[in-house]
Amino acid sequence: MMKICCIGAGYVGGPTMAMIALNCHDIDVAVVDIAAPRINAWNSSNLPIFEPGLDDVVKACRGRNLFFSTDVEKHVAEADIVFVSVNTPTKLRGLGAGKAADLTYWESAARMIADVSTTDKIVVEKSTVPVKTAEAIEKILNHNSNGIQFQILSNPEFLAEGTAIEDLMKPDRVLIGGRETPDGKKAIETLKDVYAHWVPADRIITMNLWSAELSKLAANALLAQRISSVNAMSALCEATGADVSEVAYAVGKDSRIGPRFLNASVGYGGSCFQKDILNLVYICECNGLTEVANYWKQVVQINDYQKARFVKRVVSSMFNTVSGKKIAILGFAFKKDTGDTRETAAMDVCRGLIGDKAQLSIYDPQVTREQILRDLAVDKLDWDHPRHLQQSLNSKHVSVVSDPYEATKGAHGVCILTEWDEFKTLEYERIYKSMQKPAFVFDGRNVIDVNELRKIGFIVYSVGKPLDPWVKDLPAAPPS
Ligand code: UDX
Ligand code: ADP
Repeated sequence: MMKICCIGAGYVGGPTMAMIALNCHDIDVAVVDIAAPRINAWNSSNLPIFEPGLDDVVKACRGRNLFFSTDVEKHVAEADIVFVSVNTPTKLRGLGAGKAADLTYWESAARMIADVSTTDKIVVEKSTVPVKTAEAIEKILNHNSNGIQFQILSNPEFLAEGTAIEDLMKPDRVLIGGRETPDGKKAIETLKDVYAHWVPADRIITMNLWSAELSKLAANALLAQRISSVNAMSALCEATGADVSEVAYAVGKDSRIGPRFLNASVGYGGSCFQKDILNLVYICECNGLTEVANYWKQVVQINDYQKARFVKRVVSSMFNTVSGKKIAILGFAFKKDTGDTRETAAMDVCRGLIGDKAQLSIYDPQVTREQILRDLAVDKLDWDHPRHLQQSLNSKHVSVVSDPYEATKGAHGVCILTEWDEFKTLEYERIYKSMQKPAFVFDGRNVIDVNELRKIGFIVYSVGKPLDPWVKDLPAAPPS
């Protein structure tokens, strides 16, 4: 029986391996991690990540051909294919700090693979990494290999959180990059056979290693660019009286453009977009491509601008001060249907409001209190981030509650920062009655019915929508 081992039981490794196990009864899949609490959670009824549909998949395979373990070395030694899905955060210090990927975890995983292997193996890059990482990893493996053959493949994951199971079940494409040698081609075929258990052959694309690595960065850069483009338009819509949803609808009808990923928002978040673009910027700079680097940098800068602009809207609408005022924050996750907060726009918005001494009351249906407080306590990496967004937490200014009505009770304003479905159907009449007057709603996700809320009496700001007379003459752009 073929054995697969995945190093790293995170948002990518966990669901991806569960899906392989579900679809490949003839393959044993072990997911290993150095973090014992994470592995314990994967082995419990309370999985470490919230992802619709994941519980059922894990239940169906766990103990059958899907195993979670901290015995990293044993499972790596036994495996025919080793996926590496460890974290690759942005480097915090040293050369390339703030942009380059930190490959410490990757390197230590590679060295460990070389140390414990006694049979030939295929090593698969699953985490997003800079272009040419495979080459570096290949060197580490082959210089420490004791005669064992390693084939490196790049197999970037395109799943989005919140829809991971769907994305894995019916991927638009599976990408496999490898060496163009006979052994490289053989390794590509072996991995292709795994996916072919459930993915139609014409959706499995093979190419050279660097193309596969770059394709992942390129896909995320283009997706993020669409959001920054529409967010840039949202500012212009507010200035001119156009409605960004109407503009996006009209634009998306062009089949060359397409309708998806054109929702204006308070800003994109998530573990990938910013990190991957910064990575791309760094690679461009290292290759002397300054203009190209600056082009992509601008996508991140517009995202920062959008978050800062939102904070400015809140503060200027509320008589230019939120000092001492209770503000409800509805939603903290970086998107709906996930408990993940990595790079969430909510973090910057909350920091901005805390910087202006607001009293925040935060509600999110999936993110824990501890996570929110931890996120707000950490100082943000300053890479071209506006100074006023870089405030560290004074916990006196934040409370985290488990009920949206408690969060909004007595508040001067409500900020909707994640598009959770439940925010569409809250009892806004009841919320209005319990709030200070004038009562403000700032919708960073365009989930509420603006006209309904205005009828109730709220002063409403919705990203990229025609402005309330109240907000109209107040300054819109953050100071540079
Ligand atoms: C992304 C890519 O979609 C995925 O292919 C890759 O593997 C990892 O990165 P993810 O970060 O999980 O996935 O979520 P995604 O759905 O792409 O959303 C990213 C951010 O963009 C979220 O904060 C979301 O709210 C925001 N977004 C998305 C918008 O603001 N507007 C949109 O129209 C779409
Ligand atoms: P992603 O979103 O890319 O899946 P996560 O941060 O959710 O990233 O998961 C990465 C996982 O990799 C973490 O659980 C971490 O403990 C694990 N990890 C990092 N380095 C190693 C290593 N050398 N051996 C085993 N697990 C590792």
